[in-house]
Amino acid sequence: MASGVVAQVAGGASLNAALADAFRAHRDLAAALRGAAQDLAYATLRDYGFVDRIADSLATRPPQPEIRALVMAAITALRAGRRGDHTIVDQAVEAAASLAGERSKGFVNAVLRRFLREREALERAAAATETGRHRHPQWWIDRLRSAYPGDWESILATANTHPPMTLRVNRRRTTRDAYMMRLAAAALEARVLGEDGVLLARPIPVEALPGFREGEVSVQDAGAQLAASLLGAAHGMQVLDACAAPGGKTAHILERADVTVTAVDNDPARTMRIRENLDRLGLVANVVVGDATRPGTWCGDTRFDRILLDAPCTASGVVRRHPDIKWLRRVDDIARFAATQEALLEALWQRLVPGGRMLYATCSVFPEENFVQVERFLSRHPEARRLAVAHPASGQLLPAQDHDGFYYALLEMWPAA
Ligand SMILES: C[S@@+](CC[C@H](N)C(=O)[O-])C[C@H]1O[C@@H](n2cnc3c(N)ncnc32)[C@H](O)[C@@H]1O
Repeated sequence: MASGVVAQVAGGASLNAALADAFRAHRDLAAALRGAAQDLAYATLRDYGFVDRIADSLATRPPQPEIRALVMAAITALRAGRRGDHTIVDQAVEAAASLAGERSKGFVNAVLRRFLREREALERAAAATETGRHRHPQWWIDRLRSAYPGDWESILATANTHPPMTLRVNRRRTTRDAYMMRLAAAALEARVLGEDGVLLARPIPVEALPGFREGEVSVQDAGAQLAASLLGAAHGMQVLDACAAPGGKTAHILERADVTVTAVDNDPARTMRIRENLDRLGLVANVVVGDATRPGTWCGDTRFDRILLDAPCTASGVVRRHPDIKWLRRVDDIARFAATQEALLEALWQRLVPGGRMLYATCSVFPEENFVQVERFLSRHPEARRLAVAHPASGQLLPAQDHDGFYYALLEMWPAA
C-alpha cells in the first residue's frame, strides 16, 4: 500500500488524496497495518531526493513507476531497520509480483540485495548531492539559501523531521491548566506552549484525546495559534476570516472573544469542515462559500473591524506535515500564489473600516509570498501601515522543533482625516 501511495505522489497526486484512495482500496486491512503503511509512505516521501537517487543508481533501465516506488519504499524500510532485512526484501518481492507480474520479482530481489551489499557506497554517493543530502528539490534549496544565508540548512533539516502534535485548548470549555491535569490523569505526557497551546510528548490519534469529542481541544500547530492573538479581535467587533477552511483560526478567534465572525472559503467541501469544526467546539460563525477576491458578491457593502487573510500559498513552511509538497511544487508556483495573494490583499483591504486591522498570514517561508508581498502592498497604499508584532519581530517565523513556519504582517488602515 505504501508504494502505491508514493507512486501516486510521484505522478503528481497529493498525499492526502493518495492516502484516501489507498485506504478505500485496502479497507479490509487491519488498522495497525494501514497505519504502518501510512508511516512508510510519509517516511519515503520525507527521504525522497535521497532514496530515489539510490533506487535510480541501482537499476540499469528505469522500471515502471509502481516498481520504482516499491524499491524506494523498501529501501526506506531497510534503512529504518525496524524489521529484519530478509522479511522486508521478501515482502517487497511478493508485492512486486502482485503489482507487475512474476517477472518483476527477480528485478526487485536483485536491486534490494545489491542495496544491502553496497549500501555504504550508495548512501555516500546520494549524500554527496545537495538534493540527496537535504531531501528537497534543487530550486527549493537554492531559493532558501539565498533568502536565509544563515538558516537555510536548519529550515531544510526541520522540514525532514517528524512534526510534534500540538493542541489548542478551547477557553470556552476549560482552561489550559485544567486540561494539562486531564492529560496527566490519562498518563499523557505534555507541556504548555503559548497562551492556549499544549504540546504532547508523543502524537496519538485524535479520538484518544481526552475531551476531543466534547470540544475541549483541537489539533493546531503553535505557529498557527499566533494568528488569533495577533489579530486582536475584541468583544463586539465584526471580523472577517477570508480563506477560512477548515476553520482552525476561525474557531480560535471565537474561543477568545465575543465577536461576530464571517468565515469565507471558495472550496465548498472544505467549507463544510468549518461548520463541522465549529459545531464540535460549540461555536457559531456566519459560514459562506465565496470568492474572497470578490467580497461584494457575498457581503454587499459590509466593512469589518478585523480581517484575517490566511492566504493560499506554497505551504513551504509546513513541509514536515505534508512531505509531498516539496515534490509537487514547481518553481513558478511561487509567482502564481503571489499573484493570487496580491489580488486577495487588494480586494479585502477595501473592506476594512478606517482604523481597522488586517492580519496577512501564510504558512510559507518564501519571501515573495511574505515580506516582499507586504512591502509591495505598503508601497501601493500610503494609508496602510505595518504594526510591529512581538513574536517574531520580522513576522517570519521559521520552522523549528516546536512550531511550523509562518509569516504574519499586521496592517492598519489610517483612520480617515
Ligand atoms: C491556508 S488555507 C486556510 C486555513 C485556515 N485559515 C485555517 O486556519 O484552518 C487557505 C484557504 O484559502 C482558500 N482559498 C483559496 N483561494 C480563495 C479565494 N479566492 N477565496 C476564498 N478562499 C480561497 C482555500 O480553499 C483554503 O481553504
